Amino acid sequence: RCGDPGTEFGSMNTEFFNAATQKENGTNVCGRIIRAGGLVAFPTETVYGLGANGLDGCAVEKIFAAKGRPGDNPLILHIAKKSDLKQLWKHVPDKARQLADAFWPGPLTMVYLKSDIVPPQVTAGLSTVAVRMPEHKTALALIRAAGVPIAAPSANLSGKPSPTCAQHVLDDLDGCIDAIIDGGDCRVGVESTVLSLVGTPTVLRPGGVTREMLESVIGHVDIAHAVLNPLKNGETAASPGMKYKHYAPRAEMTIFSGEREKVKLAMAEEKMRRAAQGQKVEVIVYDDADPQTAAHDFFARLRACDKKGVVVILAAALKEDGIGFAVMNRMFKSAGYNIREV
Ligand code: TXA
Ligand code: MG
Repeated sequence: RCGDPGTEFGSMNTEFFNAATQKENGTNVCGRIIRAGGLVAFPTETVYGLGANGLDGCAVEKIFAAKGRPGDNPLILHIAKKSDLKQLWKHVPDKARQLADAFWPGPLTMVYLKSDIVPPQVTAGLSTVAVRMPEHKTALALIRAAGVPIAAPSANLSGKPSPTCAQHVLDDLDGCIDAIIDGGDCRVGVESTVLSLVGTPTVLRPGGVTREMLESVIGHVDIAHAVLNPLKNGETAASPGMKYKHYAPRAEMTIFSGEREKVKLAMAEEKMRRAAQGQKVEVIVYDDADPQTAAHDFFARLRACDKKGVVVILAAALKEDGIGFAVMNRMFKSAGYNIREV
């Protein structure tokens, strides 16, 4: 049984460390906090994570409490060297080895049968566990300092857009976690690709490592149906995270899909109509040829809309190429699949 943390929620003093100026000191102190069962938010190349000792079920429970995360949504274990994978899984399939050699460290998470040392709190009772080796230097240093795998979801309140800078984390969790390491803006800006290796390799969440990249190493890869479609009534989620409301801004959001010039026109008309009703409108249009920038900016943009009190967001769909596919997956979820074909 897990002990009571004692402190009232939101009343903790969240220690702040700057990765650039307090390098080893920051990661060493935070590594000790993790070992002692505390919560530390830290930068990765994708988004900020909220970390706890991944081998300590009680520490992991605090993550769920801090985020308000549903108890049936499992976490990713973060490791600092590839060889740590074998202690967390029953065994390591050849395909996983090949993918780790090709894409670790980096934005790829792999799901496979868990070993006995992984506590049930990490996997929400599932028989599989998700593992990733991040590329961010501060994340790797923190994992090494902690000396244990770090369980970490994105460091946002459940349902909100993922944090891509330290301020986003503080906006959601200041006073609810022990410490944060500020490592500046996240390079990728959307979360890792989640790939299940149980049965046919299947992408459960698209991310920085694209289907084409995966297929160049291990051959055919499926995409889970729920990646680009809302779950049908009665459909079971391949990944529990698929069934929750996600990345949602406070505004009502509509995605405009179709030929770019028509989309721009339709958005301009809708903007005028809404503005005439006195509604604060934000228009989001990214360059189709530069999905990287879209990935980098999207979550921050949604959070900025909330701060400005925007009530209507009109967004142009991007080409689903490369990382554009991952951005569209997030955009569909943010908009609750509210799509207008023009
Ligand atoms: O880039 C990332 O992956 C970031 C950084 C911090 O590493 N982490 C992250 O974690 O996005 P989170 O918890 O926000 O998303 C993890 C996703 C969820 O959709 C969850 O349902 C899925 O991975 N997942 C975790 N373990 C799983 C499992 N055993 N089987 C299927 N899906 C799993
Ligand atoms: Mg998340």
